[in-house]
Amino acid sequence: MAGQIPPQFIDDLLTRVDIVDIIDSRVPLKKAGRNLQACCPFHNEKTPSFTVSPEKQFYHCFGCGAHGTAIGFLMEYDQMSFPESIQELAEQVGMTVPVSQAVSNTPAKQNLYDLLDKVSQYYVHQLQTHPQRQVFVEYLKARGLSAQTIEQFNIGMAPDGWDNVLRTFGGSPQAQAQLNDAGLLSSNDKGRTYDRFRNRIMFPIRDRRGRVVGFGGRVLDDSTPKYLNSPETSIFHKGSELYGLYQARKANRRLSRILIVEGYMDVIALAEQGIHNAVATLGTATTPDHLRQLLRSAPEIVFCFDGDRAGREAAWRAAENALPMLGGNHELKFMFLPDGEDPDSLVKQEGADSFNKRIDIAQSFSDYFFSTLESRVDISSLDGRARLVEITKPFLRHVPASMYRDMLQQRLAELTKTNTSMLNRHLDKPAAKPIKREIKPASGVISPVRMAITILLQHPSLHQYVDRYSEIQTLALPGIKLLLQLLETLHQYPHLNTAALIERWRDEPSGAHLQRLALEPMNLSVDGLKHELAGIVQQLQKQAIQERQSYLTNKPFSQLTDAEKEEVKSFK
Ligand code: CTP
Ligand code: MN
Repeated sequence: MAGQIPPQFIDDLLTRVDIVDIIDSRVPLKKAGRNLQACCPFHNEKTPSFTVSPEKQFYHCFGCGAHGTAIGFLMEYDQMSFPESIQELAEQVGMTVPVSQAVSNTPAKQNLYDLLDKVSQYYVHQLQTHPQRQVFVEYLKARGLSAQTIEQFNIGMAPDGWDNVLRTFGGSPQAQAQLNDAGLLSSNDKGRTYDRFRNRIMFPIRDRRGRVVGFGGRVLDDSTPKYLNSPETSIFHKGSELYGLYQARKANRRLSRILIVEGYMDVIALAEQGIHNAVATLGTATTPDHLRQLLRSAPEIVFCFDGDRAGREAAWRAAENALPMLGGNHELKFMFLPDGEDPDSLVKQEGADSFNKRIDIAQSFSDYFFSTLESRVDISSLDGRARLVEITKPFLRHVPASMYRDMLQQRLAELTKTNTSMLNRHLDKPAAKPIKREIKPASGVISPVRMAITILLQHPSLHQYVDRYSEIQTLALPGIKLLLQLLETLHQYPHLNTAALIERWRDEPSGAHLQRLALEPMNLSVDGLKHELAGIVQQLQKQAIQERQSYLTNKPFSQLTDAEKEEVKSFK
């Protein structure tokens, strides 16, 4: 991917954007010496260990080890792809991303985003102006929605008729093909093509950046299907989109909790009552991808399910999918509504305060997990307790090795009246996966090559104090190739900063290594580093020349090439 956007464009971009602005607009930063700080957006913490360096144009969290450039930050925080991050940053500083033939995919997608946005506006406009709008307006009113909420979620109407959208937006064969790619058309066996959404209340579905990627449409009466959704398209994947996440993130500067509910109308009705942190899956189960996104957006996720059997089953499926994500700095909770109610009906009935109280007393993951499994056995008998161990085992194996897993095991031991050492003999622990932690300063001696690389990376402008270096390529030392590449890159592009260097190596095997070195604490002043760097390269250069000389002088004279003979003459 990175290869498709010219590296020089990325260099320029990273010298023009300021990572401080990019992060500060999403995670407010406070000054702390030469750097800026905040509580880390990638893990839950109370004291700030997330640090942004304006000099290096780099961020780093000492708590969880997250780090990267402005590009990397958008990829992590806003869940953008690499080209999307570049696009976003370029827009902010008024640069145009050069489009090479290789990224032809992106403009096609952009066209779809543009089209869906226009169609969404069209549906909104219909709700305001269409002659038959009254029955739609009445329906929304009957469901208790204010004009403000209707606007917040850009609710619209697809008028009755087979070809409203087709006629308005499908003027040419290409335009029709695009409507089809956007999932807005249907066709019958006879090959006749018509609007997918007809005579429905329209809910645009936005991705987490706010772009319309699809629609859900609801009938006004009891006809079926009650909801019709856009099909999967190149920009709409139900397993990774969450209805309302964009609005929730917009309404809350920092989300401390997200409530996950089952329906569009639940999200909207909760917002109407002032509860602005609910999201819904799109008629599918909660996928691991959903969970990952949610855990990145807030430290606490509360699943809210109907009290009926379907709700209980959906809850257990969500719990199973969550197992591999347990044990970090986040909490998962479960709440069940009285049978026959959904968040929409309940919040209308009892108001936001009572509903919020239900959220506050939601069951913790471990309580829910064990009470569900316990209900499958007879815990009062030894046999039942032994079975509980057996049925719990496979689930625990999916939980990453962590304090949390140890505590789940301890709980299992208590419940089954055994002890952890007894359990451990039977739980066949999978190999513990170490959690990525803070990068420790290299202990012991740092090789001169590594030192030189680190200095160049952290203070690229110091390359100008390096004299000659071309001979060092003959040295067989680890890292020498990388050092040479860095020097050559900086020779050619003298104004690159740390972030730009790191991005140039993004797709290289040494990229991760460079990111680590960019974080290495350096105890010398810049002036000291300047001398250190110049000295190291000088020394390496000397060593290379000496090795060459001794190689040539030890080679039998008769075997020297003419060029080598000339070289030998030049010694002394
Ligand atoms: N759903 C769907 N297709 C259907 C029915 C439901 O995609 N035919 C999805 C929708 O995302 C819907 C969710 O499942 O929001 C929940 O469905 P349901 O409980 O039936 O609807 P409610 O959200 O309660 O809708 P309403 O209150 O409007 O009846
Ligand atoms: Mn409902």
